[in-house]
Amino acid sequence: MTMPNRSIMGSMHMGLEEEPGGFTKLAKFYAERAEGGAGLIVTGGISPNRAGKLAPHGAALMRSSQAAKHREVTDAVHAADGRIALQILHGGRYSYHPFCVAPSKGKAPIGKFSPWALSGRGVERTIQAYVRCAVLAREAGYDGVEVMGSEGYLINQFLVRRTNHRSDQWGGEFSQRVRFPEEIVSRIRQACGPDFAIMYRLSMLDLVEEGNGWGEVVEQAQVIEAAGADIINTGIGWHEARIPTIAAMVPRAGFAWVTKKLMGQVDLPLVTTNRINMPEVAEQVLADGCADLVSMARPWLADGDIMAKAIEGREGEINTCIACNQACLDRTFKGQVAGCVVNPRAGRETEFTKAAPQGLEGRYAVVGGGPAGMSTALELAKRGATVDLYEAQEKLGGQFLLAHQIPGKEEFAETLRYYQHELDRHGVRIHLGTRFEPTDVGAAQEKGDPFKAVAWCAGIRPRVPSIPGNDLPIAVPYDKVLRGEVEVGQRVALIGAGGIGFDVADFLSHPHGEETVDGFRKSWGIDGNLEHDGGLIEPQRPDNGRTLYLLQRKEGKPGKGLGKTTGWIHRLTLRFRGVKAIPGVTYKAIEPTGIRIEVGDKEQFLELDNVVFCSGQLSNNEPVEALEATGIPVSVIGGAKVAYGIDAERAIREGFEWARSL
Ligand SMILES: Cc1cc2nc3c(=O)[nH]c(=O)nc-3n(C[C@H](O)[C@H](O)[C@H](O)COP(=O)(O)O)c2cc1C
Ligand code: SF4
Repeated sequence: MTMPNRSIMGSMHMGLEEEPGGFTKLAKFYAERAEGGAGLIVTGGISPNRAGKLAPHGAALMRSSQAAKHREVTDAVHAADGRIALQILHGGRYSYHPFCVAPSKGKAPIGKFSPWALSGRGVERTIQAYVRCAVLAREAGYDGVEVMGSEGYLINQFLVRRTNHRSDQWGGEFSQRVRFPEEIVSRIRQACGPDFAIMYRLSMLDLVEEGNGWGEVVEQAQVIEAAGADIINTGIGWHEARIPTIAAMVPRAGFAWVTKKLMGQVDLPLVTTNRINMPEVAEQVLADGCADLVSMARPWLADGDIMAKAIEGREGEINTCIACNQACLDRTFKGQVAGCVVNPRAGRETEFTKAAPQGLEGRYAVVGGGPAGMSTALELAKRGATVDLYEAQEKLGGQFLLAHQIPGKEEFAETLRYYQHELDRHGVRIHLGTRFEPTDVGAAQEKGDPFKAVAWCAGIRPRVPSIPGNDLPIAVPYDKVLRGEVEVGQRVALIGAGGIGFDVADFLSHPHGEETVDGFRKSWGIDGNLEHDGGLIEPQRPDNGRTLYLLQRKEGKPGKGLGKTTGWIHRLTLRFRGVKAIPGVTYKAIEPTGIRIEVGDKEQFLELDNVVFCSGQLSNNEPVEALEATGIPVSVIGGAKVAYGIDAERAIREGFEWARSL
């Protein structure tokens, strides 16, 4: 197989695989990425049989009639001069239905269903299903397959003592446990011939107790090489591991060191992955000898042209994945179609053309330079309109300016960099430190340069809760804290335990040093020397000495509404740092030295230096009525329309969709 570059688009189950008309959408999605420079695309995981489906209606490839549907995808990718491999993924005990199977009984900590233990015959039939799936993939026109051996799915479950308690030829010593993937790979090679690529995704760091030791990882790689694989890809951490592996607090290329340890142990090319989100990061990883190839997954959602832009020296135009998981993995885990916060077209390529339709004439005012305003202004300008973007602050960014102060959310700065670059490139006239007034509509008209419409994207402001004493000097809104306008003391209570409350708690409890790969490893207990099974050691969690209370009115677990794949990380982080979360609070009064609250029937007084309001937001939309009275069409977009939840995905999407609708 010839590869134009050393980049791989990593596997992402998009949720389109199960949608009516999904193959047409996937075909367009992948073809655009092939045109955008992906060396090899790996599809999202597809089950080889019924038991392995991740959900009752999950995608499987078991019959020729199903293979025929994949043709649309492979033809589209090949027409775009790309290469594509199908990922074969059997969920094992992670499958979300009552017919799930595993090497041995035992429900996964994150699972709902207890698996059936496979019989010896069942193991044999499962191996045959993998082989049949690979043969069908070949029939469907794929250039190869990736056998998914990591992240805690079925193959991983065979490999470790944690989940394999068998006493037959598929259990016991590692040489027996590794036979399951060995048989799968060698029989696929036999059935599909030498000119069909086999990539194997190998769990190099399980991050669970009773996971594989490093010696077993090396042995597995050698066995898989001998069985006939062409490439070994890296898998990091089981889904049930309580260590972040792809979320934003993982430093860039934070696990490339693991792949590097395997370099030289096999002759096959090795692929490294996770949090490699910009071409320069990939280049560094390759230059450091960490791997032969680099896989990026989410960065291809954020920007379908990422590699083409890098190759052509247009890095400034790259829309960078900020590792938020909000519109991609969080949705996949809820059985929804994946998208992307920073790229509203991701997964919707058939709905919106890649090139913005031209010919939008006239002058538009966009009020507010946060995510909604920047997205709206950019799309209007791409369509050919003259765009004036007004921002009352001295910098573009709105809530993103605050967000990138939060530890682990530094990547938001990339979105600001991207928009600044693109707004300039597309000639948007940016007016910083300028408050747009309804009278500006008439003034523009009088000058003979009228606006055709106003996009009102003025965002939100923090809500001050009505608690007696809310105007005392110790009480401050969160935005002032994040902007550094207020230096808070050592004893602080946060009112409101939603997303903002958690972010501010993280900001105020953060010990410095966790942002380096070494600091990250230490604080989460990852064994950098790989001497312990599963790669786990005792975490070292330094304390920054601040006493923090996270208060919420609601009963129940604080942080319940946080993202599906990241909420647990935030909750754990604050627990490790000793943040005291108190639900079911009635606020009595803020006093000069603290806050009086009632929990249950008990009144208590917390002695504090500061109380920080993280209790929701209000839309900045007061001038909209006066604007509409001028007769000009006004569209209210993003937080200015609905303040709840400060949803950047909605803000960016609404701006884009409105500009496309004109
Ligand atoms: C929406 C989504 C779906 C994914 N589905 C799969 C999958 O089906 N199989 C798989 O091996 N990995 C899957 N992954 C994990 C990615 O392959 C990759 O390991 C992970 O996103 C880290 O790489 P990145 O930082 O380049 O995104 C998925 C990731 C996302 C975001
Ligand atoms: S939603 Fe967030 S994590 Fe997912 S691809 Fe987009 S920017 Fe990256």
